[in-house]
Amino acid sequence: MKCILVTGGCGFIGSNFVRLLLRALPESRVVNLDKLTYAGNPASLKDVERDPRYKFVQGDICDQDLVAKLFADEQISTVVHFAAESHVDRSISGPAEFIRTNITGTFTLLEAARASWLNHESPATHHPSRFLHVSTDEVYGSLGDTGLFTETTPYDPRSPYSASKASSDHLVSAYHHTYGLPTLMTNCSNNYGPYHFPEKLIPLIINNALGGKDLPVYGDGKNVRDWLYVLDHCAAILTVLQKGEVGQTYNVGGNNEKQNIEIVQTVCDILDQKVGLLPSGQPRRSLIKFVKDRPGHDRRYAIDASKIKNELGWEPSVTFEEGILKTIDWYLENPEWVASVVDGSYQAYYQKMYGGR
Ligand code: NAD
Ligand code: DAU
Repeated sequence: MKCILVTGGCGFIGSNFVRLLLRALPESRVVNLDKLTYAGNPASLKDVERDPRYKFVQGDICDQDLVAKLFADEQISTVVHFAAESHVDRSISGPAEFIRTNITGTFTLLEAARASWLNHESPATHHPSRFLHVSTDEVYGSLGDTGLFTETTPYDPRSPYSASKASSDHLVSAYHHTYGLPTLMTNCSNNYGPYHFPEKLIPLIINNALGGKDLPVYGDGKNVRDWLYVLDHCAAILTVLQKGEVGQTYNVGGNNEKQNIEIVQTVCDILDQKVGLLPSGQPRRSLIKFVKDRPGHDRRYAIDASKIKNELGWEPSVTFEEGILKTIDWYLENPEWVASVVDGSYQAYYQKMYGGR
């Protein structure tokens, strides 16, 4: 059986992707390598943990020996690399871990793939190999009121997070050009959906609005993001894995530009309808609080996803209106998942990030 290594499979997008992979590729095995940082949660894959085709390995992508052993023992022929420090605000308050995981971790995986796949004397696997690096639209920087990011937009990362992702993208590209490693890359816009950690805008607002807490909106609330339902991103990654041309990059986006304030108001209105007004009789919009802006806050992201549509036939299947309803329903139906991640360390993080902001 072909064995696919997924890194960061206990995170938001990775867990949704592992579930999709096990369903979509019944002839494959999946090994999930995840360090279980604050953002990794094995409960996000509880429903598949007994599947004999699924194996969880707790470990660090920077651990050279562990990664090399996994390639050899599991006969890894495909890597889908999600593992990263992913939150911009945390990268501003503590960039070191972003440099380590996002750059050194990617380098470690590339080296293991090179050693395992490009040693033609003793090929490690009989299956064609693929290394798919999951990246972000933030590497392109910030747009003005017009224009879209294409695959040829020059890189202009502006936060420690996006700079570390840009570095990892360059390494992936270099390994393709220099060594002929069969790489693929996706640069995607903002995801939302089930299993999203409540440090990011949408799950944080859902959680706070349910609990009657302040809803912090940075700056004037007019920054724009291009939102994509997470399962559409996962479908795009699978499409690129199966049909993408080695060495190519594909931008993935939702054609769904929204200002942050619109997102927050929409979540408030849906929750008012679904669970009723606040105990005070006020609508949830009354909880909105404009707070000090994120330093270096990118103004607008928007993706031109025509390459993946025209060449590989992928396009989003879920509109924002459908996706946000599905997402809110999921959070209402899974309070125990939320409770398990909003623990003591989350409370400390929240206080540090928002206390007195
Ligand atoms: P996440 O923060 O929810 O999950 C990251 C996962 O990686 C966690 O399970 C964590 O435990 C694991 N991890 C972190 N450091 C590790 C290490 N050193 N070794 C092994 N595992 C480690 O992230 P996410 O939102 O699911 O994002 C996944 C990937 O997709 C990232 O590479 C991110 O840059 C990219 N991306 C995210 C979005 C988005 O909107 N969330 C959009 C585009 C691209
Ligand atoms: O564009 C893709 C990127 O999207 C991914 O690469 C990142 O991993 C992912 O975290 C996300 O980055 P953002 O910084 O865009 O996402 P975040 O949810 O943190 O913020 C979305 C917008 O909402 C952003 O303009 C900042 C704003 N915001 C965020 C938070 C957490 C607020 O106004 N208030 C908040 O409390």
